[in-house]
Amino acid sequence: MSHDFFSFFLAWMSAPGRVGAIAPSSPALAELITSEITAGSGPIIELGPGTGAFTYQLLRRGVRQEDLTLVEYGSDFMKLLQVRFPGARVLWMDAARLAAQPLYDGAPVGAVISGLPLLNMSMRKVVSILNGAFSYIRPGGAFYQFTYGMTCPVSPRVLDRLGLKAKLIDRAILNVPPAAVYRLTRRPQSKLFAGNVTLPQPELVRPQVDQPT
Ligand SMILES: C[S@@+](CC[C@H](N)C(=O)[O-])C[C@H]1O[C@@H](n2cnc3c(N)ncnc32)[C@H](O)[C@@H]1O
Repeated sequence: MSHDFFSFFLAWMSAPGRVGAIAPSSPALAELITSEITAGSGPIIELGPGTGAFTYQLLRRGVRQEDLTLVEYGSDFMKLLQVRFPGARVLWMDAARLAAQPLYDGAPVGAVISGLPLLNMSMRKVVSILNGAFSYIRPGGAFYQFTYGMTCPVSPRVLDRLGLKAKLIDRAILNVPPAAVYRLTRRPQSKLFAGNVTLPQPELVRPQVDQPT
């Protein structure tokens, strides 16, 4: 929608680092990042939905609006999302505060879809976001993240620290610029999310960034 391009561009002009893109993601990228989501995925959290490019695709995949929590920091985007997805829970907040503001009892969430510009964020902020997100993700669930970079936007050091592994799902060439989608999951038997985990010795724990199969 041309209106979406315009709102995105205006938002990017006022906060380029936070918005992280001059235009909404393409249908091809929306399809890729939601490709493993089904109507049975249960509650979904979307981080940084912007104008809702991924949200619309989640609905097409059968996710009910009532099962969606949309976490958006931009106030104009937040108001737009409230109008477009009246059945969803729209939260105007920093995704780094997910753990501080209880959203669910327990961990019922099947997936987190993230459009956040992680490459523009400090390592501390990325750790807070992942810590918060995985505190809601049930066993077997996943965190999906796109990036314009050539490698996973979560560094091996952070993956090690949080007991996570990352796998490249695929690349969406039909996006400006082309993007890649990674799936982050817990490593088997990882003890996640103690706030002050000490970093493992690099020679003892190797980073797990899988390549496409
Ligand atoms: C690259 S845009 C992606 C928008 C949309 N998902 C898409 O793909 O078209 C990044 C979005 O993340 C939001 N955002 C950035 N930092 C955030 C934060 N700390 N908490 C919540 N949302 C944030 C921005 O306002 C923007 O909507």
